This record gives sequence, C-alpha cells and structure tokens, in this order.
Amino acid sequence: MVRQAGKQNCGRIVLVSFLSLLATGLVFDFLWASSHRFSSIGMSLPSSVTTVVGKLPPNSNDTKKKKDNGKERKLSATFQDLDAPELQWEKMAPAPVPRLDGAAIQIRNFLYVFAGYGNINLVHSHVDIYNFLDNTWGGRLDMPKEMAHSHLGMVTDGRYIYIVTGQYGPQCRGPTAKTFVLDTDTNTWSDFVPLPVPRYAPATQLWRGRLHVMGGSKENRHTPGLEHWSIAVKDGKALEKEWRSEIPIPRGGPHRACVVVDDRLFVLGGQEGDFMAKPASPIFKCSRRMEVVFSDVYMLDEEMKWKVMPSMPKPDSHIEFAWKVVNNSIVIVGGTTEKHPETKKMVLVGEIFQFNLNTMKWYVIGKLPYRVKTTLVGYWDGQLYFTSGQRDKGPDDPAPRKVMADMWRTKLILYP
Ligand SMILES: *[C@@H]1O[C@H](CO)[C@@H](O)[C@H](O)[C@H]1NC(C)=O
Ligand SMILES: *[C@@H]1O[C@H](CO)[C@@H](O)[C@H](O)[C@H]1NC(C)=O
Repeated sequence: MVRQAGKQNCGRIVLVSFLSLLATGLVFDFLWASSHRFSSIGMSLPSSVTTVVGKLPPNSNDTKKKKDNGKERKLSATFQDLDAPELQWEKMAPAPVPRLDGAAIQIRNFLYVFAGYGNINLVHSHVDIYNFLDNTWGGRLDMPKEMAHSHLGMVTDGRYIYIVTGQYGPQCRGPTAKTFVLDTDTNTWSDFVPLPVPRYAPATQLWRGRLHVMGGSKENRHTPGLEHWSIAVKDGKALEKEWRSEIPIPRGGPHRACVVVDDRLFVLGGQEGDFMAKPASPIFKCSRRMEVVFSDVYMLDEEMKWKVMPSMPKPDSHIEFAWKVVNNSIVIVGGTTEKHPETKKMVLVGEIFQFNLNTMKWYVIGKLPYRVKTTLVGYWDGQLYFTSGQRDKGPDDPAPRKVMADMWRTKLILYP
C-alpha cells in the first residue's frame, strides 16, 4: 500500500511569456514550447550552447570582472548534467495526448494519468489509463468540471484517489480549493472537504490514517506556502469535518515529491517561486518569475518534527509524480534544476536518482532518453516506466521545449 501511495502534485509550466526582470535589467521572451529567443541588455551572449562567463553573476562589479577575464571559462548550457550510466530504453505506446504538469497514480497494473496542459492555452479535463499487463492505453474518464486541471495534489490508498486543490484553467490562472475522490473500483467521483485555502502544487500524502497536504504556492502561484494540514480519512471519505493545522513545512513552494515509506513521510526537492499571471492580463498570461530550486530532503516521523535528510545529488523540482518506491528506495525521474546562472533559462534534468533508505544514500542510476520535467512514473515487473512531461531542446540545450506523449521503459537497476 505504501508503495502504491500516490505521487504528488505536479509540474509546471514553461511557457510563454515575457518576463521582465527589472532587478537585473534583463528581458527575456519565452515562447511556449518552441525555441525561445534570448535577448539581453548590457550583456553580449554568444549564440548557442556555450556562453563565456566570468566567475561572477552579471551584476557584479567591474573591477572584479576585469580581473576574472584573465581566467575566463566556458560554462556550457549543459553544465548541470551529471555522469550517469547509459540505459536501454524501449519506446512504448504514446499516451493519447501530450501532457505537461499532469498527475499520475499507479494502482496495481494500471497507471492513471490525470489532467495537465496540452499546450499553454489548453488544459485536459480527463484521465487516461495505461495497462502494464498488455502495455496499452485503454480507459478514459472525464473529470468533474470543477476539478483543477494541473498542479494537483494527489495520493491513493490503493483504491480511492484523493485529488486535492490545484490550478484551475490554462496559462497562469490560480488554484481552486476544491477537492475530490475517485473510486477506481467503480470509476465514480465524489466531493471532498475543500482545503482551507487554495494551493498550487502542494505536497500531498496519506500517512497514519490522515490525508496530509503541505507547502505549494499561494494563490498567486509564486509565493511559497508553509502551511500543512491534515484530515482523517477512510475509504475515500473524511472522518472529520475540517482540516487541522499541522507542523509547517521547513520550506514552502510547489513541485516536490512527497513519499511515505515505512511510516515516515519524506518531502524531496521542489522550488520556491514560479511563473505568475501578468498583472491585468485577461487571459492570465504566464510571466516568468525567478524560482529557486532546491535539493533539500526533509522527513517527518512519529516525533512530528522535521528532520533534515541527505540532499539530492542536485537541486530537483517538478517531480511530484516522477517517483516510485521500489525495494525500500525512492526512485526519481528527471525534473528541473537551478536555472542557468548566465542565461537564466530553465534547465531540465536528464538523470534518474535513487535514494536508498537502507543506507540513506543517493545514487545517480541512469540517463533518460532526454532531459524532461513533470514525468509521470510507474513500475511494473522490473521495468521503470515514464510518460508525458516537457523535454529539452536537444542534447546540447537543456531548456524546455516540446510537451510529450511518449511512454518509455527500462529495466530498473538499483544500488542495494
Ligand atoms: C568592487 O570590488 C572592489 C574590489 O573587490 C571593492 O573594493 C569595491 O567596493 C566593489 N565595488 C562595489 C560597488 O561593489
Ligand atoms: C528487489 O528485491 C528483490 C528481492 O531481493 C530482487 O529480486 C529484485 O531484483 C529487486 N529489484 C530491483 C529493481 O532491484
């Protein structure tokens, strides 16, 4: 049961838009899912993969910059890639639709893949179901009209899927507090007690008979929330009338993995900040805000105090449904890491990480077919599967581009 237990909220958007970063005087233009041009004021940037940088951030002081020019180094766009074993990947049947910032839950041999953006102006309002037994996409369920379309908090007890809050609508609209339950035996939906306030991409888990929801961003999508609530649940129903406040999370923000293993609750990676709606935009057009991605891992046990665990091999966000627990290890597929220090472009992750809970050690266990964020991950019969997400522009450019429907699998090899 623990093993099946959900996956968390989801990924993010990379979109479009137009960011004006007044503090540094840079202006970027982001085009949704297509190559984006970078323009800058006061900096000259070589065209492609590598940029020449000194040791200091663009703002820094001239005297120092001159000194450093003597030992200029090339900082590749791909500098955050880690060495990782090559894996044999097998391409499976693609999902019926491409999906970014969707959500996924595995129950036995089925992977339920929820919602997500098809593109920045279009969100899905249905569930597609993959069957690991015959490797086909079969069932499809429409979601309730009031349910959020991306950045959901989600978890299962093995039959009931709890779908908590999330972003309602395309572009950078805000979240709804509405919360639902899907009974996967009968494929019926029911309403659930709304979260006290709407949250965008909160960490969500079932733990000790309670549904826990924490962190995420506040209504503006950007401001990290630290609040943590829980409510007693059984068989898809709340046993209490209201959510109760729990110990706040040490760091707020969206897009982290939240996993229960062996009666301990882990929160891994994530970020503070995210794209926001452009002020006064009638379509809530997405506008970049600088995010800070982290490698932090925190754990709650029966003491109900957060404990700091070994950090991830690098900062990693957009991983709320990008994980599985296999043999007492948490396996995490792709994500986003810290933005490029010079270009400020988002940098995707192309590795698989293993957090071995026997040894409390992290390993980099393989390379993905491409760098990708907001993957939706399953595990069946020794094979690790992932689908959906937004992939990189190519081997030399880790910035996000195409929203994917592809499904892949590889034999999972873990460090014991
Ligand atoms: C620039 O750097 C020099 C040498 O490190 C320092 O003395 C000076 O105060 C700095 N100026 C500014 C404006 O930061
Ligand atoms: C998990 O453990 C079992 C039993 O020790 C072993 O047979 C299996 O290969 C392991 N799976 C992975 C992915 O390491």
